[in-house]
Amino acid sequence: MLVDYSNADDAGVYRISEDLAAVLTVDFFTPIVDDPYMFGAIAAANSLSDVYAMGARPVVALNLAMFPTDPKLFPFWKQVMQGGIDKMSEAGVYIIGGHTVKDTEPKFGYAVMGTIHPEKILDNSRAAPGDVLMLTKPIGTGIVSTGIKSGLSSAGAEEEITRSMAALNRRASELMLEAGASTSTDVTGFGLLGHMHEVLAASRCRAVISAGSVPFFDEAVRLAGRNIAPGGTRANIKNYEPYVRWADGVTDVSKLLLNDTQTSGGLLIFIQPDRAEKLQEALRRDGIVAARIGEIFRADPAQPEIRIEK
Ligand code: CO
Ligand code: CO
Repeated sequence: MLVDYSNADDAGVYRISEDLAAVLTVDFFTPIVDDPYMFGAIAAANSLSDVYAMGARPVVALNLAMFPTDPKLFPFWKQVMQGGIDKMSEAGVYIIGGHTVKDTEPKFGYAVMGTIHPEKILDNSRAAPGDVLMLTKPIGTGIVSTGIKSGLSSAGAEEEITRSMAALNRRASELMLEAGASTSTDVTGFGLLGHMHEVLAASRCRAVISAGSVPFFDEAVRLAGRNIAPGGTRANIKNYEPYVRWADGVTDVSKLLLNDTQTSGGLLIFIQPDRAEKLQEALRRDGIVAARIGEIFRADPAQPEIRIEK
């Protein structure tokens, strides 16, 4: 066993031979968009994301599906399945089986296996002082989703977050490997600060973040300004408060956004500054958001684990 749950890593890793290890993860959730095809695609992209975050290549997946058995709904489930199949095939991943359970509230996702060289695993303990932090998707899908459910979001914003959530982190992962990143994690349910904390704790480092350089969806900023956010986001604020110190002038809107629970968010990449510029260029050439949002230092008991500047 090379990586287990003790550092809250994105996936578990098991060595099969001297030069080969299996990377394993599972993710499934209830519908987050109305469009059944896109729900399937997002569930697939999200479940692959943990493998990409470890620096691994996903190869096979097993489907987990919990659906109500009302025959009138079968066409919907077929579309959910198709969205997942198409996204997995875009990623070059074979779906080799799965399991279905009757359930009143639908749930859908995948268990994924990837492969990696045992010495190249980007686990949570590998961030290093001097690293810069780079984020590859804007933040705010949780807040915008809540806005959609309450009828407060525009159709344009729904389309924008759907596209972002369905986008694979594959290319970002390939480019960060080429550039020689120290490590990475993907931003999901615990929000930007929660997932950052997991890496900092495992690496015994601290971070200074510039709130103004974090990319947000415009609609998320607008909704956060009206104090609209999911319960998970508010829970994150409370759970990670002990690790965070906010500079004067950082607004409550920023607190909501930086803690917003994400579905299929981007990679948060830790990389030495002399490599960061090349990576940023390469990501942007591929049309990927590549925002430098902060810096990493050695942990210091006199300093907060995460300091948020304006
Ligand atoms: Co993850
Ligand atoms: Co996960």
